[in-house]
Amino acid sequence: MKKITLLGASGSIGTQAVELIEEFDETFELVAITANKSIETIEKILHHHDVQVVVMAKEYEQRIYDVAPNATFYALEDDGLLKAIDATADATVFNALVGSVGLEATLHAIKNNQDVLLANKESLVVGGPLIKEALLNSNAQLIPVDSEHAALRECLKGKKHSDIEKLVITASGGSFRDVSKENLKNVSKEEALKHPNWSMGAKITIDSATMMNKVFEVIEAHYLFDVSYDKIEAILHKESIVHGIVHFKDGNVLAHIGPSDMRIPILSAMKGDTSLRYHSVFDLVTQGSLHFEPIDPHRFSLFDLGIAVAKEKGMHVVTLNAANEIAVQRFLKGDIGFVDIETLIKKCLDYFENHIPLTLPNILSHDKLVRRYATKLKI
Ligand SMILES: NC(=O)c1ccc[n+]([C@@H]2O[C@H](COP(=O)([O-])OP(=O)(O)OC[C@H]3O[C@@H](n4cnc5c(N)ncnc54)[C@H](OP(=O)(O)O)[C@@H]3O)[C@@H](O)[C@H]2O)c1
Repeated sequence: MKKITLLGASGSIGTQAVELIEEFDETFELVAITANKSIETIEKILHHHDVQVVVMAKEYEQRIYDVAPNATFYALEDDGLLKAIDATADATVFNALVGSVGLEATLHAIKNNQDVLLANKESLVVGGPLIKEALLNSNAQLIPVDSEHAALRECLKGKKHSDIEKLVITASGGSFRDVSKENLKNVSKEEALKHPNWSMGAKITIDSATMMNKVFEVIEAHYLFDVSYDKIEAILHKESIVHGIVHFKDGNVLAHIGPSDMRIPILSAMKGDTSLRYHSVFDLVTQGSLHFEPIDPHRFSLFDLGIAVAKEKGMHVVTLNAANEIAVQRFLKGDIGFVDIETLIKKCLDYFENHIPLTLPNILSHDKLVRRYATKLKI
């Protein structure tokens, strides 16, 4: 049995992972779960799984013990995520948290020599160099869950790193891909949350509409596959059927195709080399035509801005991420408009210094500073 410690069990990725663990209950065992406030979802999971550890905000402690009297509860506020990882040291850590809150957990698991299945792309965005360094001193493996990176990983199996010419990831274009830049001013939160192809958590759905998600994925690919930014490309592909493409130096090009179903990359990451049958129906003939286009830098101006920040290296990438997290939260609360997300991020990048050494304490304190500033910023 492969033991799984699932961080972010109540989210979109987390609940799909739980369903797969239930479907393949002879292969996987859920030993720890964490969430922030989604108590009903966690109670539901606890009715079906005898987990050892539960982490949530402190206020839910009694409710957890009511359903799972034999489990150990750690409060989120009291380093609960790190304690859960330590308490299940023989488990694989599945990081399905959203936001930079996931970084410390990723680093902690790697330092403990525990394999990490990484959906939490923000870990690599804000702490890529730290994670790479931690991996060098650990036996842990870092396995991507994001569909594009899972696709690239499949294409690269058995291939030599020195043979890679370039990596290409695809972008659906998000909820407003057919809306002109000028018409973005009046779009609503409800419209923004309707992704044309994928059903995902709120934050990543908005990140897809602004194209910030693709910035994060380029950064993620840079660290996961050790490929320079000038050899990673993102293109628009509205059908979301081709997820990742690898061009090799000898002229061969491998593309990974499949349905827009996150359960496939989730299961691939969880199962490793184990053979399992997943019931997916995929038919290219009924799928019809596939389209590919470059990302228009005028229409998706946040994409170019984000890539420039990534290439610049330094603390600005932490500023970019924190400002984006707050901007998305403020947009979802109805406090700012969709186009203000970009304005807010630019203002934060102008305000904060870039040349700060990327250590964990610096990243964590800078992340807090930017969040505070971005929360109060008048737009
Ligand atoms: N959804 C997708 O299809 C998809 C695809 C590719 C990659 N990803 C990536 O996977 C990650 C998770 O995405 P998602 O869509 O599943 O997000 P989500 O639905 O918003 O779920 C996020 C999870 O993190 C927990 N959480 C939120 N804030 C927290 C905090 N401050 N401390 C501790 N836990 C916290 C949530 O708990 P509560 O429920 O209690 O708030 C929930 O369990 C993201 O990095 C995303 O970019 C997602």
